[in-house]
Amino acid sequence: MATDQIKNNQAKNDPAKSEQEKEAAARASLQFVKDGQVVGLGTGSTAAHFIKLLGEKVRNGLRIRGIPTSIRSRELALSLGIPVTTLDECQEIAVTVDGADEVDPQLRLIKGGGGALLREKIVASATKQLVIVADASKQVPVLGKFPLPVEVIRFAQALVAKRIRALGAEVQLRMGPDGKPYVSDENNHILDCRFGQISNAEGLARQLDEMPGVVEHGLFIGMAKVVLFARGNEIVELRR
Ligand code: A5P
Repeated sequence: MATDQIKNNQAKNDPAKSEQEKEAAARASLQFVKDGQVVGLGTGSTAAHFIKLLGEKVRNGLRIRGIPTSIRSRELALSLGIPVTTLDECQEIAVTVDGADEVDPQLRLIKGGGGALLREKIVASATKQLVIVADASKQVPVLGKFPLPVEVIRFAQALVAKRIRALGAEVQLRMGPDGKPYVSDENNHILDCRFGQISNAEGLARQLDEMPGVVEHGLFIGMAKVVLFARGNEIVELRR
Protein backbone atom coordinates (compact mmCIF):
# COMPACT_ATOMS: atom_id res chain seq x y z
CA MET A 1 0.00 0.00 0.00
CA ALA A 2 1.39 3.46 -0.86
CA THR A 3 2.20 5.90 1.95
CA ASP A 4 -0.48 8.38 0.95
CA GLN A 5 -3.10 5.65 0.92
CA ILE A 6 -2.16 4.54 4.44
CA LYS A 7 -2.30 8.13 5.67
CA ASN A 8 -5.60 8.84 3.94
CA ASN A 9 -7.17 5.83 5.64
CA GLN A 10 -6.00 7.17 9.00
CA ALA A 11 -7.24 10.73 8.49
CA LYS A 12 -10.45 9.89 6.65
CA ASN A 13 -12.68 10.94 9.55
CA ASP A 14 -12.04 14.67 9.22
CA PRO A 15 -8.87 15.67 7.40
CA ALA A 16 -9.34 19.42 8.04
CA LYS A 17 -9.70 18.90 11.78
CA SER A 18 -6.72 16.60 11.88
CA GLU A 19 -4.64 19.20 10.01
CA GLN A 20 -5.62 21.90 12.53
CA GLU A 21 -4.70 19.56 15.38
CA LYS A 22 -1.32 18.82 13.81
CA GLU A 23 -0.61 22.55 13.57
CA ALA A 24 -1.75 23.15 17.17
CA ALA A 25 0.45 20.34 18.52
CA ALA A 26 3.41 21.66 16.54
CA ARG A 27 2.84 25.16 17.91
CA ALA A 28 2.74 23.82 21.49
CA SER A 29 6.13 22.15 20.98
CA LEU A 30 7.89 25.49 20.35
CA GLN A 31 8.14 26.04 24.14
CA PHE A 32 10.68 23.19 24.27
CA VAL A 33 13.11 24.91 21.89
CA LYS A 34 15.61 27.32 23.48
CA ASP A 35 18.03 29.81 22.02
CA GLY A 36 21.41 28.34 21.08
CA GLN A 37 20.23 24.72 20.86
CA VAL A 38 20.79 22.09 18.21
CA VAL A 39 17.29 20.93 17.24
CA GLY A 40 16.32 17.71 15.47
CA LEU A 41 13.79 18.36 12.72
CA GLY A 42 11.33 15.51 12.22
CA THR A 43 9.63 14.36 9.04
CA GLY A 44 5.98 14.18 8.02
CA SER A 45 3.07 16.58 7.84
CA THR A 46 3.02 17.41 11.59
CA ALA A 47 6.79 17.93 11.72
CA ALA A 48 6.46 20.16 8.64
CA HIS A 49 4.13 22.43 10.64
CA PHE A 50 6.79 22.58 13.35
CA ILE A 51 9.55 23.45 10.87
CA LYS A 52 7.43 26.25 9.38
CA LEU A 53 6.68 27.69 12.84
CA LEU A 54 10.35 27.36 13.78
CA GLY A 55 11.25 29.26 10.62
CA GLU A 56 9.11 32.18 11.86
CA LYS A 57 10.96 32.13 15.19
CA VAL A 58 14.32 32.10 13.42
CA ARG A 59 13.27 35.08 11.31
CA ASN A 60 12.38 36.82 14.59
CA GLY A 61 15.87 36.22 16.02
CA LEU A 62 15.91 32.69 17.54
CA ARG A 63 19.39 31.22 17.05
CA ILE A 64 19.30 27.45 16.59
CA ARG A 65 20.83 24.89 14.25
CA GLY A 66 18.63 22.14 12.89
CA ILE A 67 19.50 18.51 12.15
CA PRO A 68 16.90 17.30 9.63
CA THR A 69 15.72 13.69 9.62
CA SER A 70 15.14 13.57 5.86
CA ILE A 71 16.08 15.24 2.61
CA ARG A 72 12.63 16.83 2.40
CA SER A 73 12.79 18.29 5.91
CA ARG A 74 16.28 19.62 5.12
CA GLU A 75 14.97 21.30 1.96
CA LEU A 76 12.01 22.76 3.85
CA ALA A 77 14.27 24.10 6.64
CA LEU A 78 16.69 25.67 4.17
CA SER A 79 13.84 27.26 2.20
CA LEU A 80 12.73 28.96 5.44
CA GLY A 81 16.20 30.20 6.35
CA ILE A 82 16.76 27.74 9.22
CA PRO A 83 20.50 27.00 9.54
CA VAL A 84 21.12 23.26 9.31
CA THR A 85 23.97 21.09 10.48
CA THR A 86 24.72 17.36 10.37
CA LEU A 87 25.58 14.52 12.70
CA ASP A 88 29.12 14.73 11.30
CA GLU A 89 29.48 18.15 12.90
CA CYS A 90 27.40 17.64 16.02
CA GLN A 91 26.44 14.42 17.78
CA GLU A 92 24.42 15.87 20.65
CA ILE A 93 20.93 17.16 20.02
CA ALA A 94 19.13 19.03 22.80
CA VAL A 95 15.59 18.56 21.53
CA THR A 96 13.95 16.89 18.52
CA VAL A 97 10.37 17.52 17.49
CA ASP A 98 8.87 14.78 15.33
CA GLY A 99 5.52 13.21 14.49
CA ALA A 100 4.31 9.65 14.96
CA ASP A 101 1.84 7.26 13.37
CA GLU A 102 0.75 5.73 16.69
CA VAL A 103 1.46 6.43 20.37
CA ASP A 104 0.47 4.07 23.18
CA PRO A 105 0.01 4.92 26.90
CA GLN A 106 3.68 4.04 27.66
CA LEU A 107 4.73 6.53 24.93
CA ARG A 108 5.91 3.71 22.69
CA LEU A 109 5.59 4.75 19.07
CA ILE A 110 5.10 3.45 15.57
CA LYS A 111 6.89 5.73 13.13
CA GLY A 112 7.90 5.57 9.51
CA GLY A 113 4.63 6.12 7.68
CA GLY A 114 6.47 8.93 5.91
CA GLY A 115 9.39 6.66 5.09
CA ALA A 116 12.04 8.41 7.20
CA LEU A 117 12.21 6.01 10.15
CA LEU A 118 15.92 5.21 9.84
CA ARG A 119 17.23 8.76 10.06
CA GLU A 120 14.46 9.59 12.55
CA LYS A 121 15.57 6.83 14.90
CA ILE A 122 19.24 7.77 14.58
CA VAL A 123 18.46 11.42 15.38
CA ALA A 124 16.13 10.39 18.23
CA SER A 125 18.91 8.23 19.70
CA ALA A 126 21.23 11.28 19.83
CA THR A 127 18.54 13.50 21.38
CA LYS A 128 18.13 14.46 25.05
CA GLN A 129 14.46 15.36 24.79
CA LEU A 130 12.37 13.77 22.04
CA VAL A 131 9.07 15.66 21.75
CA ILE A 132 6.36 13.98 19.69
CA VAL A 133 3.60 16.09 18.17
CA ALA A 134 0.41 14.51 16.90
CA ASP A 135 -3.28 14.90 16.23
CA ALA A 136 -5.65 12.98 18.47
CA SER A 137 -6.11 10.12 15.97
CA LYS A 138 -2.57 8.88 16.74
CA GLN A 139 -3.34 8.00 20.37
CA VAL A 140 -4.05 4.27 20.69
CA PRO A 141 -4.45 1.85 23.61
CA VAL A 142 -2.32 -0.80 21.84
CA LEU A 143 0.07 -0.36 18.92
CA GLY A 144 -0.52 -2.16 15.65
CA LYS A 145 -3.50 -0.81 13.77
CA PHE A 146 -1.05 1.19 11.66
CA PRO A 147 1.17 -1.16 9.63
CA LEU A 148 4.68 -1.30 11.09
CA PRO A 149 7.27 0.01 8.61
CA VAL A 150 10.46 -2.05 8.39
CA GLU A 151 13.36 -0.71 6.33
CA VAL A 152 15.26 -3.47 4.55
CA ILE A 153 18.34 -3.97 2.43
CA ARG A 154 16.99 -4.62 -1.07
CA PHE A 155 19.13 -7.76 -1.46
CA ALA A 156 17.32 -9.33 1.51
CA GLN A 157 13.78 -8.00 1.09
CA ALA A 158 12.09 -11.24 0.00
CA LEU A 159 13.83 -13.22 2.74
CA VAL A 160 12.97 -10.64 5.40
CA ALA A 161 9.35 -10.48 4.17
CA LYS A 162 9.09 -14.28 4.48
CA ARG A 163 10.52 -14.23 8.00
CA ILE A 164 8.19 -11.44 9.10
CA ARG A 165 5.21 -13.32 7.61
CA ALA A 166 6.29 -16.30 9.70
CA LEU A 167 5.87 -14.04 12.76
CA GLY A 168 2.21 -13.62 11.79
CA ALA A 169 2.15 -10.35 9.84
CA GLU A 170 0.75 -9.49 6.44
CA VAL A 171 3.65 -7.89 4.61
CA GLN A 172 3.59 -5.50 1.67
CA LEU A 173 6.43 -3.84 -0.15
CA ARG A 174 5.78 -0.10 -0.02
CA MET A 175 5.29 1.46 -3.45
CA GLY A 176 6.01 5.04 -4.43
CA PRO A 177 3.70 7.34 -6.43
CA ASP A 178 5.54 6.30 -9.62
CA GLY A 179 4.37 2.69 -9.13
CA LYS A 180 7.90 1.55 -8.32
CA PRO A 181 9.09 0.43 -4.88
CA TYR A 182 9.52 3.36 -2.50
CA VAL A 183 13.20 4.16 -1.95
CA SER A 184 14.27 5.69 1.38
CA ASP A 185 16.82 8.49 1.80
CA GLU A 186 19.35 5.76 2.56
CA ASN A 187 18.45 3.92 -0.63
CA ASN A 188 16.60 1.02 0.98
CA HIS A 189 13.10 -0.41 0.54
CA ILE A 190 10.32 -0.49 3.16
CA LEU A 191 8.03 -3.36 4.10
CA ASP A 192 4.71 -2.37 5.70
CA CYS A 193 3.85 -5.12 8.17
CA ARG A 194 0.35 -5.62 9.55
CA PHE A 195 0.63 -7.50 12.82
CA GLY A 196 -2.74 -6.48 14.21
CA GLN A 197 -2.47 -5.60 17.89
CA ILE A 198 1.17 -5.75 19.00
CA SER A 199 0.89 -7.15 22.53
CA ASN A 200 4.65 -7.45 23.10
CA ALA A 201 6.30 -4.49 21.38
CA GLU A 202 9.67 -5.00 23.12
CA GLY A 203 9.78 -8.65 22.06
CA LEU A 204 8.87 -7.86 18.46
CA ALA A 205 11.47 -5.06 18.37
CA ARG A 206 14.13 -7.53 19.54
CA GLN A 207 13.12 -10.09 16.90
CA LEU A 208 13.33 -7.49 14.16
CA ASP A 209 16.63 -6.09 15.50
CA GLU A 210 18.12 -9.57 15.24
CA MET A 211 16.90 -10.28 11.68
CA PRO A 212 19.72 -9.99 9.11
CA GLY A 213 18.70 -7.63 6.31
CA VAL A 214 16.54 -5.43 8.53
CA VAL A 215 18.12 -1.99 8.63
CA GLU A 216 15.63 -0.48 11.11
CA HIS A 217 12.01 -0.76 12.16
CA GLY A 218 9.42 1.77 13.18
CA LEU A 219 8.99 0.72 16.83
CA PHE A 220 10.42 3.57 18.94
CA ILE A 221 10.50 2.29 22.51
CA GLY A 222 11.77 4.29 25.48
CA MET A 223 12.67 7.24 23.27
CA ALA A 224 9.86 9.80 23.51
CA LYS A 225 10.08 11.99 26.62
CA VAL A 226 7.07 14.18 25.87
CA VAL A 227 4.02 13.68 23.64
CA LEU A 228 1.77 16.60 22.74
CA PHE A 229 -1.60 15.53 21.39
CA ALA A 230 -3.98 18.11 20.03
CA ARG A 231 -7.62 17.18 20.59
CA GLY A 232 -9.82 19.91 19.15
CA ASN A 233 -8.65 23.11 20.87
CA GLU A 234 -7.06 21.28 23.76
CA ILE A 235 -3.41 20.19 24.04
CA VAL A 236 -2.81 17.07 26.11
CA GLU A 237 0.76 16.65 27.33
CA LEU A 238 2.05 13.20 28.36
CA ARG A 239 5.51 12.70 29.86
CA ARG A 240 7.67 9.71 30.57
C1 A5P B 1 7.97 9.83 8.97
O1 A5P B 1 8.77 8.78 8.53
C2 A5P B 1 7.11 9.36 10.06
O2 A5P B 1 7.74 8.71 11.10
C3 A5P B 1 6.22 10.47 10.57
O3 A5P B 1 6.73 11.06 11.71
C4 A5P B 1 4.91 9.89 10.86
O4 A5P B 1 4.56 9.14 9.72
C5 A5P B 1 3.85 10.94 11.15
O5 A5P B 1 3.52 11.62 10.00
P1 A5P B 1 2.37 12.69 9.95
O6 A5P B 1 2.79 13.79 10.86
O7 A5P B 1 2.36 13.11 8.51
O8 A5P B 1 1.12 12.03 10.35
